[in-house]
Amino acid sequence: MGGWAVDHNDQVFEDRALLRSHTCGELRASHEGQQVTLCGWVDSYRDHGGTIFVDLRDRYGKTQVVFDPDIGDAQLALGRSLRSEDVIKVTGKVSHRPAGTVNPKLDTGEVEIRSTEVTLLNKCLNAPFAPGQQDLPGEDLRLRYRYLDLRRPAMQRTLVTRSRIIKTMRDYFDENNFIDVETPILGRSTPEGARDYLVPSRVNTGNFFALPQSPQLYKQILMIAGYDRYVQVARCFRDEDLRADRQPEFTQLDLEMSFVEMDDIIGMIDGLMVRLAKELLDIDLKTPLPRMTYDEAMERFGHDAPDLRYGMELVDCTDLAAQAEFRVFRGVADSGGRVRAINAKGAANNYSRKDIDLMTEWVQQDFGAKGLAWFKVDADGKLSSPIAKNFSDELLQKFKERMAAEPGDFLLISADTWDVTCRVLNALRRRLAAELKLYDPSDMNFSWVVEFPMFDYDPEEKRWVAMHHPFTAPRPQDLPLLDTDPQAARAVAYDLVINGSEAGGGTIRIHDNQIQQKVFGLLGMDEESAQERFGFLLDALRMGAPPHGGIALGIDRIVMLFAQLESIRDCIAFPKTQRATDLMTGAPGTVERRQLQELGIRIAAENK
Ligand code: AMO
Ligand code: AMP
Repeated sequence: MGGWAVDHNDQVFEDRALLRSHTCGELRASHEGQQVTLCGWVDSYRDHGGTIFVDLRDRYGKTQVVFDPDIGDAQLALGRSLRSEDVIKVTGKVSHRPAGTVNPKLDTGEVEIRSTEVTLLNKCLNAPFAPGQQDLPGEDLRLRYRYLDLRRPAMQRTLVTRSRIIKTMRDYFDENNFIDVETPILGRSTPEGARDYLVPSRVNTGNFFALPQSPQLYKQILMIAGYDRYVQVARCFRDEDLRADRQPEFTQLDLEMSFVEMDDIIGMIDGLMVRLAKELLDIDLKTPLPRMTYDEAMERFGHDAPDLRYGMELVDCTDLAAQAEFRVFRGVADSGGRVRAINAKGAANNYSRKDIDLMTEWVQQDFGAKGLAWFKVDADGKLSSPIAKNFSDELLQKFKERMAAEPGDFLLISADTWDVTCRVLNALRRRLAAELKLYDPSDMNFSWVVEFPMFDYDPEEKRWVAMHHPFTAPRPQDLPLLDTDPQAARAVAYDLVINGSEAGGGTIRIHDNQIQQKVFGLLGMDEESAQERFGFLLDALRMGAPPHGGIALGIDRIVMLFAQLESIRDCIAFPKTQRATDLMTGAPGTVERRQLQELGIRIAAENK
C-alpha cells in the first residue's frame, strides 16, 4: 500500500500502512475467505439476539460487520457499546452472506465480515445528528456541524463530482495549450458590479485592498504581456445580496485568449461542455451549441438566460389589447407598454381561483406587477375569466388564435412596461413549468445568449452602467452608436446558459485606449477618475495590446446543474449562509481592539 506521507519514524509508518487493508466500499464475493481489516464510522448497529451487526462506513461505501457471540466477552461488550459515528477498526474474515440476506442495494451487499477483533479508535460524543439518519436536520445545524454533514454519502458524491469537473477542466485546457497563472487575492477594486470586500492595509494605514470580484484586469494584463492562453480556477468575492445560486465567495473557471474572435472562445467552451457532458453524465452533446441573441431571448422568454427545456413562450398581444375596451390593457398599449401572454397548455383545471389569487399576489409583491389577467379555455372553446365581459367576441377569437389556445388551456397575461412584463412572465413561465412538470429534471440543455446591450440603466443609482463590465467591446458595426445612441449599441458578449441558469459569461475586450476612454466616459467616469482607478490598464493598452477576449464559468453553478442540486451551498464544502456567515467557525467575528488600532480603524457604532 503506497501513497502515505513519508514519515521518518519507520515504526509509525508501518503501523499506519497496516491500519486498513481495504476500504468499506471494496469487498465483493470474490474476496470470500480473505482476512481483512477495515476502518470507518459506525453507520448503524443492531443487536439480533446476541449477534451484533454494524454497518461500517467510509467515503467509499458501507460494509456489514457481524460480531458473533463466540468472539469473546470483552470483544462482544465492546461491540455492544458501539454507537453511531464511533470510529473503529475491525479485523475478520470476508464471508458470503447467508441466503436471503444479500443486500442488492449495497455494492458490498453480497458479503459481510465476521469480526475477530475490533478496536475502538475514537468515540463520537453528543453528535447533534447522524449522517445516516433518515430525515435531514435543518440547514443551520448541518452548516454548524459541517464535518458531520460532509460525512453524508450525498455530500461526498457532490464533492467528488466537483473534483472531477475541475480535473476535467484543467486537463482540457492543458491539452489546449493554456497556462495556469495565479493572480492576486489582495488587489485593487475591479468593477464587476457588486460591492467589494475590503481588506485594510496595516502598513499603509487608511488604504485598502479589495478582494477580487474576478481576475478580470489581471487576465487582460496577461494578454498584453503575451500569455495568449490563460486559465485559472479562481476564487472570487462579491458582497451582494445572496440567493440560492449566489455565494459571497465563489469559484470561477476563468480564461482569456489573444488574437481571437467570439467564435474562438465559444468554440473552446463548446468543446469543454462536450467533454464534461460525456465524462460526467454520459451525454453526447452536439456542437455548435445553439445561439440566440439577447433581444430574441427577452422577446421570446422574458429573460436573458432562458430555460429551453420547454416551450410556453411569451406571445405579444399589444396590438390586440389596443383594440380592447378594457381600460387596463388599452391604457398600457396606448402608453407604449406591452401586453404579453403565455399559454399553459392543458392547465386550466390545475389552478383554482384561490391559486390564481395567490399567484397574482406573488407577481405583485415579488415582480412589481400591477395585476395578472387570465383566461381559461372551456371545453366548448369559450374563453372564461372575470374580465371576459370587457372584450368583444371577435377580439377574444383573435386572441385565442394568437395564443394557439385550445380547450383546457390556461392563458396568463401581463400588461405593463416591457421590463415588468419580462419579469412577471419569466417568473410565471418557470414556476408553471416546474409545477406542471413540463420537463424532466434530468434533461440538460446548453445554449448561448449573445449580443447583449453594452449599457443597462440602473434605476437605483440613476445612471447607465456596463451590462457586463466596462472593458467589453462593442460590435464593430455599433461603434458609431457610442456617439449617437449608446443604448442601442450591442456588445460582443456571450453567456453560457444551462437549464435556464447563467453558467458563464464573457466578452471580447476593448484593446484600444481611445475606445476604452470613451466607454468610461459614457459610464460617467471622467478622464481624471478613469486615470486614477484604471490608469495602469489605460497605460498597458497603449503599449502593444493584442485583440483579446475571454470568459468565466461559475464552477459552483456548474456543479449544481450537473449534480441537479437546488442550492449552491450543497456544492461547496464550507459555504456561507444567506447572511454571509460561516456557522461552523463563526466568521465573520470581532477582532481585538489592538488589531483595529494597528489598522487605524475605529468602529463607529456598536451593532448591539
Ligand atoms: P460574471 O460576473 O458574469 O463575469 O461571472 C461569471 C460567472 O460566475 C458565476 N457567478 C457566481 N457564482 C456564484 N455566486 C456568485 N455570487 C456569482 N457571481 C457570478 C456565474 C457567472 O456566469 N470577469 C467576468 C468574466 C469575463 O468577462 O471573462 C466575470 O466575472 O456563473
Ligand atoms: P382592476 O380593474 O385593477 O381590478 O383589474 C381588473 C383585472 O385586471 C384584475 O384581474 C387584475 O388582476 C387585472 N390586471 C390589473 N392590472 C393588470 C396588469 N397590469 N396586467 C395584467 N392584468 C392586470
